[in-house]
Amino acid sequence: MAVRECVLVLMLVWAAGNAAEEGDAGLCGLNGCQAIDLARRYTDLTMAKMMHTIKPEAMEEVFESMSKLEALIRQVEDLKRDTSSLLQPVWPINSGPERWSMCAEGPCSCTMETRFVSCWRLELLDHVPRKQQIPIDTRSLDLGMNRLKFLHKNSFTKLTELVELDLNENQLELLPSSLFYDLENLRHIKLHKNRLLYLSPEIFQDARSLRTIDFSFNMLEGLPAQAFRKLHHLYNLNLESNAITALDEMIFYDLTNLEDLNLSNNQIKELPQLAFYRLSKLKTLKISHNVLSRLPYGLFNGLVILQEMYLDNNYIESIPTDTFRDLIHLTFLDMTANRILRISYKDFINMANLRSLFLGRNLITEINNRTFVGTPRLEKLYLFSNKIEKIELAAFSGLNNLSWLLLNNNLLKLLPNAIFRRTPSLLRLQIDSNKFMHLPEGLLDDLKQVEQVKLSMNPWHCDCFILYLTRWLHSNPDKIWDRQPKCRGPGDLGGKPVIDMTFNSVCDGQWASMTKIQGRV
Ligand SMILES: *[C@@H]1O[C@H](CO)[C@@H](O)[C@H](O)[C@H]1NC(C)=O
Ligand SMILES: *[C@@H]1O[C@H](CO)[C@@H](O)[C@H](O)[C@H]1NC(C)=O
Ligand SMILES: *[C@@H]1O[C@H](CO)[C@@H](O)[C@H](O)[C@H]1NC(C)=O
Repeated sequence: MAVRECVLVLMLVWAAGNAAEEGDAGLCGLNGCQAIDLARRYTDLTMAKMMHTIKPEAMEEVFESMSKLEALIRQVEDLKRDTSSLLQPVWPINSGPERWSMCAEGPCSCTMETRFVSCWRLELLDHVPRKQQIPIDTRSLDLGMNRLKFLHKNSFTKLTELVELDLNENQLELLPSSLFYDLENLRHIKLHKNRLLYLSPEIFQDARSLRTIDFSFNMLEGLPAQAFRKLHHLYNLNLESNAITALDEMIFYDLTNLEDLNLSNNQIKELPQLAFYRLSKLKTLKISHNVLSRLPYGLFNGLVILQEMYLDNNYIESIPTDTFRDLIHLTFLDMTANRILRISYKDFINMANLRSLFLGRNLITEINNRTFVGTPRLEKLYLFSNKIEKIELAAFSGLNNLSWLLLNNNLLKLLPNAIFRRTPSLLRLQIDSNKFMHLPEGLLDDLKQVEQVKLSMNPWHCDCFILYLTRWLHSNPDKIWDRQPKCRGPGDLGGKPVIDMTFNSVCDGQWASMTKIQGRV
């Protein structure tokens, strides 16, 4: 701890201690009046530390006190926020016959026909405009793109016909727990890009009609287990880009009609085993960019109509047995950028509808026979940027409809001779940036429909065996999709395009007769 920090902490501790001593009810209530004690002990310890006399054993106590203090400070700040929202003015809710024309007198725009009030982008600072009359039968209220920081707990009270509420792009830090009480018709709530730190467990208690909730781009660190209770109609929940670290096992329990769930860009380390098991209507599940290292056994069981799943950019090391067993309707699975070491046919069993499988940027070393027999409709297979050294002959068997195969940026030196006989529909093949020196005679001839092939950035060895590739390049000039592949060697041939090799330049007579290579290219 630097001396400056010590002094700062000291000041805070004394402030807290003094406040408690004076009998500040709020503070006492918050920490049970232990602030003085805490402050004294902490001060003593801090002083000791500053004088370099502190014993190492005591340091732990210092840190413990410090985190207690931090929690205390946070509670005080929350209290401050709560108080601020109480102090906000409430705008008048108008139920009179002239309510829509009176509404039009305020800064917001009011449309009686659609019962829509828009206060969008009015530079509203801190609070709702206190002179604005809001008709009691408003259905849609847009407060988006302002600078609202606090809302009074009764801001929307009595607006029982409200269906849509847009609070996107404000600076809200807290939603008073009674903010949506009585809003039984509320279907859509938008809180994208605010500064929410947490939610009250009762926040949606009355809002049982909610269909969509957008909390994306806030600062939520967690969610109360009760937050989404009874929201049986909810079909879209966006929690993208918050700071959520963990989820309660019961958090989604009642969301039996949820279709889209976005948890991407959070800090989720682990998911409870039963987190999703009631979500039998789920179609899209996005958990990209978290810090998951493990998928608990059975996590995706019951998601029988799931179509798209994003698990990319996590730290997943393996696919536990039967993980995808129930995902019979999945068409899209993204596991790019994880730490998967091994895949096997058991991982993708039953996935008869899978069209795209993203496994790039993992640590896979080999692809064994029949790995993809469970995914006969696969069209795009991404295996780039792994550590693949070996692919068995029947690795791709069953993939009759495969049209894209990306194997670039691996460690391949060799491919079995007839490997592409099992992928007759291939249109695009990338084997660039590997360790290939030659391709086996006939390898590319099985690709009857291929349109684009990437071969560059391999150490092509331009001896007599290269002539198969040279011939193929001559007969398929428009299929080379990137740069012309070049020889790595031997000798002077290094740097020359493979397509320029001739029998005379690379074969001596002996080699030619031994390997039955045709003289003409
Ligand atoms: C949800 O998550 C993905 C990443 O998995 C992101 O790209 C996407 O834009 C997010 N938002 C919505 C509304 O889908
Ligand atoms: C492959 O695609 C064709 C047409 O695109 C389709 O008729 C056929 O059923 C597909 N095969 C499999 C195994 O899905
Ligand atoms: C993979 O399949 C090929 C062709 O069916 C077979 O020759 C080879 O022995 C198999 N490899 C293993 C390890 O079973």
